[in-house]
Amino acid sequence: MIEAQGKESIVRQRYAAGAKERADKLCCLVDYDSEYLQAIPREVIERDYGCGDPSRHVHEGETVLDLGSGTGKICFIAAQIVGPKGKVIGVDMTDITSAASLLAADALAEELRVKHPLIASDSIDVVVSNCVLNLVEPKSKRQLFDEIFRVLEKGGRAVISDIVSDEEVPEEMQNDHELWSGCISGAFTEEGFLAAFENAGFYGIQILNRDADPWRTVQGIEFRPVTIQAFKGKQGEDYNATTEANKKCCDGGSCC
Ligand SMILES: C[S@@+](CC[C@H](N)C(=O)[O-])C[C@H]1O[C@@H](n2cnc3c(N)ncnc32)[C@H](O)[C@@H]1O
Repeated sequence: MIEAQGKESIVRQRYAAGAKERADKLCCLVDYDSEYLQAIPREVIERDYGCGDPSRHVHEGETVLDLGSGTGKICFIAAQIVGPKGKVIGVDMTDITSAASLLAADALAEELRVKHPLIASDSIDVVVSNCVLNLVEPKSKRQLFDEIFRVLEKGGRAVISDIVSDEEVPEEMQNDHELWSGCISGAFTEEGFLAAFENAGFYGIQILNRDADPWRTVQGIEFRPVTIQAFKGKQGEDYNATTEANKKCCDGGSCC
């Protein structure tokens, strides 16, 4: 089994390299709104490792936190949407300017996580994330959802695009460095992803988008992008009613 620290280092190294030079294998084709791409540096657009577009669900004036912002594409887009009255914060564990400090960063990140949370509680309107949660090692995934919940204001929401699988990923695939850092092995099942939001206390959990075709199929397991919205507080629809509606909608195709 790759140790947790090992998984984090592998992910950090791969995305530090991917920030310097474009890595084709890490890309899903995403249809971003071209209006917002014009103001973004070409180097950022080229190094796009997302699998969805949570920025489509952000509104003017909001405070947005982008988890695992990478080279910052979603931050650049969200900043144009929220405008001068809003705020966008991007957080990423990879210091993309200093790949040489990878090992030192592991130890520092561990300390910061426990002692000095970067983001204040109840301070964010929308937490977005694009193809990041699957990269977090399994023992920290519960804490990850708890932290998303903690930083959101009451009534705030998470809009998360990520890769999900149609069955549990076997252990031998989880030990594969390439598959782990390539957004495959750490994927939740679709049901597990919805349940993780519910277990952290979210309401109104809804599938906003779900690709009908898999992005990749590995050892017979299908991996596809989904975008989920979930609320802190009872502002959203009832979870069971929502998931039933999603099932009916998704049965027929890619819309949700
Ligand atoms: C697949 S890339 C996506 C980057 C960006 N969201 C985009 O749309 O291009 C995953 C990013 O998540 C970051 N990441 C992975 N695990 C993380 C963690 N535990 N904390 C913060 N960032 C993390 C990586 O450094 C990398 O930049």
